[in-house]
Amino acid sequence: MDASPEMVDAARAAAPGDDVEYVLADVRAWLAARRDAPGEAPRAIVSNAMFQWVEDHLGMIPELADLVAPGGSLALQVPANFDAPSHVLLRELAARPEYARHVTARLRDTSVRAEEYLRALARPGWRVDAWETTYLHVLQGPDPVFEWISGTGARPVLESLPDAERERFAREYRAALRRAYPALRRAYPAGEAGTVLPFRRVFAVATRD
Ligand SMILES: C[S@@+](CC[C@H](N)C(=O)[O-])C[C@H]1O[C@@H](n2cnc3c(N)ncnc32)[C@H](O)[C@@H]1O
Repeated sequence: MDASPEMVDAARAAAPGDDVEYVLADVRAWLAARRDAPGEAPRAIVSNAMFQWVEDHLGMIPELADLVAPGGSLALQVPANFDAPSHVLLRELAARPEYARHVTARLRDTSVRAEEYLRALARPGWRVDAWETTYLHVLQGPDPVFEWISGTGARPVLESLPDAERERFAREYRAALRRAYPALRRAYPAGEAGTVLPFRRVFAVATRD
């Protein structure tokens, strides 16, 4: 289930099959529909890298968990890099007047700390594991951090800018990212330059007794 037609189409193309149902929906509408017609309780609900886009989602997490059958689990992962240089630089640049007047995207921190998921999900009859991991991604090629982030966190900003401003913004952002994440000419692999991108992610798994 995803709110993007492109994402649902890509998932269907990657794993077609009569035994899989792909649903185009906003998670809030999906949950509201389940409230009215619960249907069969699922064994597991898994959400990857989605809830960071959903404001105030912490309130809906226990209700989502309550859908699973006894013995079943809710598992989720969200990126938690709002304070990383990549995102701080994005916000600083987007706040400059020449860009701010175009940017409609709200760059609010919707991420939730592992402890908050733990507190929300730790209820009688549930076992909860929640943790954070910082992955050190070693990226190759020119401007690899820009390439990465322009497809995710920076996308709403880039999409809201007119062509000329988008080009200028991208040029400035690339340069700032190169300074914040310098390419290291070390063994990544041997002899090749690699750019290290630390990426923090939060996980929570709640299992019903
Ligand atoms: C980083 S992608 C992750 C996609 C996929 N879950 C994966 O693991 O590859 C974030 C996804 O969240 C989806 N999304 C954002 N807000 C949503 C919402 N309110 N309801 C459902 N999906 C949403 C976006 O359409 C996007 O495809």
